[in-house]
Amino acid sequence: MTEVPDYLFERSRQRRIALGLLEDDGSGGAAASEAGDSGSQASSGPSSADVIAAAKADAKLEQVADIDIEPVWVSAANARTKIPMWALPVMFFLPLWAFVYVKMTEPPPEPVTAMTEGAATYAAQCASCHGGDGAGNEGGGVGRPLYNGEVLLTFPKLDADMIHWLNVGSEGIGLGNPYGATDRPGGTHISGETGANMPGFGGTLSEYKIYSVARYIREVLSGELLSEEEIVVRDAEWEELGGGKDLGGGGGHGGH
Ligand code: HEC
Repeated sequence: MTEVPDYLFERSRQRRIALGLLEDDGSGGAAASEAGDSGSQASSGPSSADVIAAAKADAKLEQVADIDIEPVWVSAANARTKIPMWALPVMFFLPLWAFVYVKMTEPPPEPVTAMTEGAATYAAQCASCHGGDGAGNEGGGVGRPLYNGEVLLTFPKLDADMIHWLNVGSEGIGLGNPYGATDRPGGTHISGETGANMPGFGGTLSEYKIYSVARYIREVLSGELLSEEEIVVRDAEWEELGGGKDLGGGGGHGGH
């Protein structure tokens, strides 16, 4: 018969004591092992069947215990920090908040005034010859200078005379003919005198655009000083000519 190690007998004996099948006689495993060796079925010693059953029970118990241990990936998942409940509504409203935020940081659309319109017209139609700052031929352009009060010397007033010049240009005035103030410091300006011709804009620009660009070169580039009343009168004139109506919103108000 196969040799059964002593510790197995002892374990089986302890188990049977625990189950109440065996009185604890205080003996060690040696006596039990002797009984087992003899192969007898006497109730005083454990039978090998008992031993095997006990060993099986042990093995089974250990197995069950093994199954209870969760795999590392499961415990890792459980231990991981979870997304808190309040995160759900936050995630939901985040795009809405972003949209509102961007909308709020956008500057409101600039209202169209005679000045903004004049600046835009100047940049598009005049700056190529007169320069962005109005330096004209003093700054590399072919046009006359319009800054530093120059345009106010040629045209002391924003009147029909000035509007006419912008409408017809050098050839409309007639090359060799004077235009603007006859008592201009430095002498009256003569059409074609500079060797370059100014085109007329009457055919390409609407009346209110010519008016607004005339204002722009006077008030912004040449720094014309005006009273509040004069500005109000000019804004009204600009609106009368159709300014601020066809530019999509911005109200019909001129002004600075
Ligand atoms: C192709 C070039 C060119 C363009 C574009 C042009 N100008 Fe001129 N401008 C001139 C020239 C050149 C003169 C001088 C005319 C002359 O000598 O006959 C002049 C003269 C003037 C004068 C008279 C200045 C003075 O003191 O004699 C005014 C005012 C003026 N331009 C305004 C404008 C405005 C406003 C625009 C745009 C709407 C414009 N110009 C576009 C070339 C140009």
